[in-house]
Amino acid sequence: MKVACSIVAEILEGLRCLVCPGATTFELEQFASSEALKRKARCAFRGYHKYPSSLCCSPNNQVVHGLPNKDPLKSGDILSLDFGVIYDDYYGDSAITVPVGEVSQTAKDLITVTRESLFAAIEKAIPGNRLGDISAAVQNYVESRGYSVVRDFVGHGIGRSLHEDPQVPNYGFAGKGVKLKPGMVLAIEPMINEKSHEVKVLNDNWTVVTCDGGLSAHFEHTVAITENGPEILTRI
Ligand code: MF3
Ligand code: CO
Repeated sequence: MKVACSIVAEILEGLRCLVCPGATTFELEQFASSEALKRKARCAFRGYHKYPSSLCCSPNNQVVHGLPNKDPLKSGDILSLDFGVIYDDYYGDSAITVPVGEVSQTAKDLITVTRESLFAAIEKAIPGNRLGDISAAVQNYVESRGYSVVRDFVGHGIGRSLHEDPQVPNYGFAGKGVKLKPGMVLAIEPMINEKSHEVKVLNDNWTVVTCDGGLSAHFEHTVAITENGPEILTRI
């Protein structure tokens, strides 16, 4: 999993550098799939439940699962990029949200709070804690800063499949849920909205957007629980 996850981390870092006004998400998709091929990794999302791309590109009010297209990105946009690979039968999965050119203070704050909520959650990924400690860490961090947590999509266990038990919600109660043990690997992925938490799926059956048109941000790491604490496998 370390190899799969480090491939994901490197490619996401490359993508982050390519994001600028005028670039298209189609170009990002091509970069991600060709870089995966170079590393003899398979793209985990292409064909998963018939998902048609290798990369999820979700700008602005899109929450997750946005499809790459040829529309140029504009200064002021924010863009969530979610990528996963399979290497040697193991999966890695990670996501980032990046600003395009100059963005509003609101957009910057949303991105920062979402990233920090992921790290607040990762701190709780230690043996003896419970799943609800992770969920509550995200929810408390985000809601105390005036943002809202998406309910309809959640993080997940990951290993020889992209989605394994347990589900990892970004809301819940500390002290509840399964006990965390060394050897478990979780994809923790807060999806955070500027306004209401409500989301809907567009007619393409993939793109998830906020119901109120507000901005949304997403960060994800694949995290192993070890005797020595959390190990972020998708950290660059
Ligand atoms: N990181 C997302 C997830 O874990 C990406 C899945 S996109 C899909 O669910 F197309 F593969 F579904
Ligand atoms: Co995931």
